[in-house]
Amino acid sequence: MQREYRADRAPQAEKAPDTMEERVQACVACHGQQGRGVDNVYFPRLAGKPTGYLYNQLVAFREGRRKYAPMNYLLAYLPDTYLQQMAVYFSEQNQPLPPAAHPSVSAELLNPGPWHFVGILGMPRRMAYYDYANPAIAPQAFSVIISVIGGLWDAICTAAGVPSRFQPVLLPTLPTGRPSNVIVTATMMHPADSQSIGRGATLAMQCTMCHGIRGMSEAASPNLAGQADAAIYKQLRDFKSGNRESVIMQPLASALSDPDMRDLAAYYAYLPRDHNVARSAQVEQAPLIVLNGAPMRNIGACASCHGDHANKAAVPNLDGEPESYIRAQLQHFAASTRRNDINEQMRNVARQMTPDEIDAAAHYYASRGE
Ligand code: HEC
Ligand code: HEC
Ligand code: HEC
Repeated sequence: MQREYRADRAPQAEKAPDTMEERVQACVACHGQQGRGVDNVYFPRLAGKPTGYLYNQLVAFREGRRKYAPMNYLLAYLPDTYLQQMAVYFSEQNQPLPPAAHPSVSAELLNPGPWHFVGILGMPRRMAYYDYANPAIAPQAFSVIISVIGGLWDAICTAAGVPSRFQPVLLPTLPTGRPSNVIVTATMMHPADSQSIGRGATLAMQCTMCHGIRGMSEAASPNLAGQADAAIYKQLRDFKSGNRESVIMQPLASALSDPDMRDLAAYYAYLPRDHNVARSAQVEQAPLIVLNGAPMRNIGACASCHGDHANKAAVPNLDGEPESYIRAQLQHFAASTRRNDINEQMRNVARQMTPDEIDAAAHYYASRGE
């Protein structure tokens, strides 16, 4: 789903780099430059493989038919056209073969080198202060992306049983049913000041690859721009504690301190999300499930909690979120694979919803703010 920024409402900034070369940087750490492969047979070469084959594999990873957690998550929200373009890109590469493979991950790749990993699977602390108006942002963003993927290395290496000189990956494991240890109150967030927003903007360089350069995702990860600060903060805390599971977000959040999370929340809450379209004629009529809920099945109206004026702390704004994301979250709540909602508020709702109602709600909220 493509969304446009409202240039007149967005802060002045350099446009995000978005050529195919830049997009596929997310793949370099594991598949080598231009997909030529790395010095480890575990990570397949992509260059020169038939487009149709690559495309089918990407779709299979996205849909979970082919299983490999980092790839499943990386591709989870990418649209078909995006996958197609990547398949074409890699099949057109004609790189020399990499050096002969050894049965272990090369020391060179495992070595953090100039990146400085903090703790388990941590994010690099080497975050320079970026100037958003600096035209040289592209190479810097690139190094950040690579650093992010660098963190993933530990996950796969450990998963693959390859000895790693970092700490073993200890993602929190959950006793089933543990909800969330965040105490949500109306005053849990302090009013944001410009220092906090500025610091958040800097930290957010780690997040642009998936959540967009200004919080509006092109890759169908959740949009964070204009999201309620308390909602962002709570979700980051839940990722960090493991009460909300995500192969991608848990390691990222585990490296964030409490002030980091507050600053990121302040920054994203400050960014504009286009709400105006929501009031125009293009927006679909809200389905009954959103307006009224389903009283016979104990489903409250979604709008009573998620509406513009609901004003409840830490309830996420759903307007303009990617349809696939909303649907997936409802399915996760229904299946209790997501269970960080306090008092099972959302699980009780989602379990009672029919697949058609889930589709209707996801479609409707996605249509607001497109
Ligand atoms: C964290 C490491 C990692 C990252 C990042 C990664 N991949 Fe992969 N990828 C793998 C591994 C490992 C496999 C083989 C998985 C298996 O065992 O099935 C794989 C398999 C594939 C395959 C199937 C290849 C074949 O020959 O069957 C394709 C296509 C692919 N990846 C594309 C991508 C693209 C495109 C990106 C960037 C958006 C990407 N990958 C990012 C690790 C990664
Ligand atoms: C590699 C991709 C990737 C990166 C980098 C990334 N995220 Fe995420 N993020 C995701 C995905 C995918 C989800 C949805 C997880 C799910 O399906 O439950 C998500 C979910 C979230 C959510 C929950 C949103 C909601 O509406 O519930 C927050 C908040 C968030 N990310 C913040 C961040 C921040 C802050 C950073 C940078 C420190 C970051 N993310 C970096 C991919 C990423
Ligand atoms: C009683 C209040 C309440 C009602 C009614 C309600 N929700 Fe929620 N919803 C919440 C809260 C609170 C959360 C955040 C849960 C958490 O802390 O992770 C949430 C989270 C969600 C999320 C995940 C968003 C994200 O970005 O992580 C989706 C999707 C969602 N609700 C959809 C719906 C739909 C569709 C309906 C109507 C069928 C609905 N909700 C009704 C309170 C409610």
